[in-house]
Amino acid sequence: MSTEHPAPSTQHPAPSTEHPARDVLLSVSHLTTVFDLPGGPVPAVDDVSFEIRAGETLGLVGESGSGKSVTALSIMRLVQPPGRIAGGRIHFKGRNLLTLPEAEMRAVRGADIALIFQEPMTALNPVFTVGDQIAEALLVHDRATRRDATRRAVELLDAVRVPDGAARVRDYPHQLSGGMRQRVLIAMALACTPSLMIADEPTTALDVTIQAQILDLLREMKSAFNLSLLLITHDLGIIAETADRVAVMYAGRIVEAGSVRAILREPKHPYTRGLLASMPGRAPGKRLRAIDGTVPMLGALPPGCAFNPRCPDRFDLCTSAPPPEYEVGPAHGVRCYLHALVDSRQSTVASRQSSVDSRQSSVDSRQSSVDSRQSSVDSHQSSVDSRQSSVDSHQSSVDSHQSSVDSRQSPVDNRQSSDVGPGSSTDGQR
Ligand SMILES: Nc1ncnc2c1ncn2[C@@H]1O[C@H](COP(=O)(O)OP(=O)(O)O)[C@@H](O)[C@H]1O
Ligand code: SF4
Ligand SMILES: [Mg+2]
Repeated sequence: MSTEHPAPSTQHPAPSTEHPARDVLLSVSHLTTVFDLPGGPVPAVDDVSFEIRAGETLGLVGESGSGKSVTALSIMRLVQPPGRIAGGRIHFKGRNLLTLPEAEMRAVRGADIALIFQEPMTALNPVFTVGDQIAEALLVHDRATRRDATRRAVELLDAVRVPDGAARVRDYPHQLSGGMRQRVLIAMALACTPSLMIADEPTTALDVTIQAQILDLLREMKSAFNLSLLLITHDLGIIAETADRVAVMYAGRIVEAGSVRAILREPKHPYTRGLLASMPGRAPGKRLRAIDGTVPMLGALPPGCAFNPRCPDRFDLCTSAPPPEYEVGPAHGVRCYLHALVDSRQSTVASRQSSVDSRQSSVDSRQSSVDSRQSSVDSHQSSVDSRQSSVDSHQSSVDSHQSSVDSRQSPVDNRQSSDVGPGSSTDGQR
């Protein structure tokens, strides 16, 4: 889904990003990653496109099982069998990572693009000190001599606010708290000054206070190290506080993407609305509403829109085929048939209105012809009058159709404004 360039509303599928703009650091186009299961290949990531610009934070949000981690692993080319990347392109600094020789890809991993995971204990080696592990990251990429590497490890621990870094370099991972381990992992990720950090649920295993501290640290490091960030989370609250743009993922596809402000204030996809309604602190005094049902299992997607069994707004068209992307605002795209319907109904009414206008003008010109001839033929005049009255009644029928469309449109608007009320706490955070 392309989210970068403002485009007018359209009922046609929007083009995906084919040619990255100059300040685009990472451009993922039509990425498809499948798992070869006994029944055949099934996509965990299906035709996914997005971009990250230099210095930007993109939030990738969705429930567990949506395909977020597989997307991250695909970018790093770390998907293990039975998974494989089946199609698409991943351009990073102008090179397609999917066609790089493995030796060049190893140089990109860690040095240019760093990946940090949810559970630091699994990413850290329990038998080496944290100092040795940070030093190793520098040595692997020839960023320091062995002597310098230890000094640099202390500097990095200081930078990520690990108290008394000079002593902590000699600690083993199990001697540190969860929050401190995550700081060590961030220090390792920063060791080679990458341009892009992918943080996959970096705070999910931490309690709320530590979570806030790690998010503060990520923001601080992003600016100190001039990083771009792909922040993966199931929590829209984290996106609201940290990201510039957001892509909402469901069952392997990006179903809505846009600026954080647009998505939080005017979510267009029923799934995004569901995520917002289940966000603590979103509407103080209102009960949180969980989205009914669960993300479908890989290989068991329902026909049409994958969200249709859980969608409160589904209608006949929704089971026909997966919806294309519709542009619903500047750099705001959504894959949902609701937006096709609104557009086509409005264009039908607009064309009827224009047909009435042209009939009106034809009647006006006949009227003027009658006037110029000054024929005073009463019967002809009365015929023109009756046509005028017929046009008036057609006009009133179009007006009533328009008002019917407006009233069908308004439940969507009303739901939207009740989901995202003007006094909401998250709005105030942007
Ligand atoms: N090794 C694997 N074998 C088979 N299916 C997998 C494997 N890893 C992930 N999947 C499936 O891919 C889908 C996406 O998973 P994942 O990217 O981990 O989701 P998320 O990170 O959004 O929670 C899920 O349906 C998951 O079961
Ligand atoms: S396409 Fe249909 S089922 Fe899917 S989100 Fe939109 S209204 Fe719901
Ligand atoms: Mg995951």
